[in-house]
Amino acid sequence: MNNSETIRVACFSTQEHDKAVFERAISNAGTCAESSAPKSTIDSAPSSCSRSVNITYFTHGLAASTARLCDDYDVVIAFVNDDIGAETIKALAQCKVKHIALRCAGFNNVDIKAAHDYGIQVSRVPAYSPETVAEHTLALILTLNRQTHKAYNRVREGNFALNGLLGFTLNNKTVGVVGTGKIGCSVIRILNGFGCRVICYDPNKNQEARDLGAQYVDLDTLFAESTIVSLHCPLNENSYHMINSESLNKMQNGVMLINTSRGGLVDDKAIINGLKSKKIGYLGLDVYERESELFFTDHSQDIIQDDNFQRLTTFPNVLITGHQGFFTAEALNEIAHVTIDNIINNNNIV
Ligand code: NAI
Repeated sequence: MNNSETIRVACFSTQEHDKAVFERAISNAGTCAESSAPKSTIDSAPSSCSRSVNITYFTHGLAASTARLCDDYDVVIAFVNDDIGAETIKALAQCKVKHIALRCAGFNNVDIKAAHDYGIQVSRVPAYSPETVAEHTLALILTLNRQTHKAYNRVREGNFALNGLLGFTLNNKTVGVVGTGKIGCSVIRILNGFGCRVICYDPNKNQEARDLGAQYVDLDTLFAESTIVSLHCPLNENSYHMINSESLNKMQNGVMLINTSRGGLVDDKAIINGLKSKKIGYLGLDVYERESELFFTDHSQDIIQDDNFQRLTTFPNVLITGHQGFFTAEALNEIAHVTIDNIINNNNIV
């Protein structure tokens, strides 16, 4: 085996399922895994591999305080809620880390300028499976509308009453899709199957969305005409808190609002007021602005200190999932495969 270069990688915010898919991706890539890889995987690496990957898995997140652990590593693999601001990047640079490989699509948690200043490249996984997130968006819409989560419990308790379960027919309803990139277009494709009228907004218009029959409108028109508003744009300085008290006022009474993109798109104080005033009739969230303090961890025995989050969970017409839009076997495999490829071949650099 020509083991000419071993890339030492530190993987942060690791869950058990991450280890399994990354070790499989290393094995499939034909690189030479060490550390926690099963011996058989190491032995099966082809003799031709010239760049091998050796991952050490850390369960805790990447932040300025933990970046110091990276002294012996060339690359870090990071996730959506890792804090990769200027302080973290400075600490990584001191450890001589050369590459931050994000195992996600969004990169709003990275100070890209600081990374460039310190000569650290940042890669991401731009399109591991847009359909995966789009399908979860529809799961939120359908569950909120037809209340299958409540029906499940009722029937198990022998309660077959239908009061409180009244939904609406999706067919012919107008859905506003904000952001018509890969996930937005996948959502449009699925909504077409339900016979919805889709209107959309994006500063960069996409012919694919037009070809799918969606009609571009300005944001105010989208808010005014939509029974359902679904967010599919990245978090940046232009989109931060795009859903606020002002934009909510432009929406229909009883609107269904869905956010599977990034928590910071939504001002949570404004949506709590919108729920209390019944402006928002249904709220589906897969993301939350301060989710890094909560998501991906079992807090069932803790006293949760985020009062706005706790308030949101008390409304009967709110459904929150803990950033699981990406979480299918197919998507995880693709994420791991592309991340390893990005590390070895310097692809998908931001
Ligand atoms: P993409 O880059 O293909 O599309 C994003 C679209 O948003 C682009 O067309 C862009 O022009 C548009 N956009 C940018 N600023 C906008 C604004 N202010 N208003 C309206 N549109 C705007 O990204 P993709 O793959 O479709 O992902 C969308 C978002 O979904 C990601 O940024 C990420 O935050 C989120 N996401 C969530 C996941 C989850 O597990 N819940 C998993 C993967 C992505």
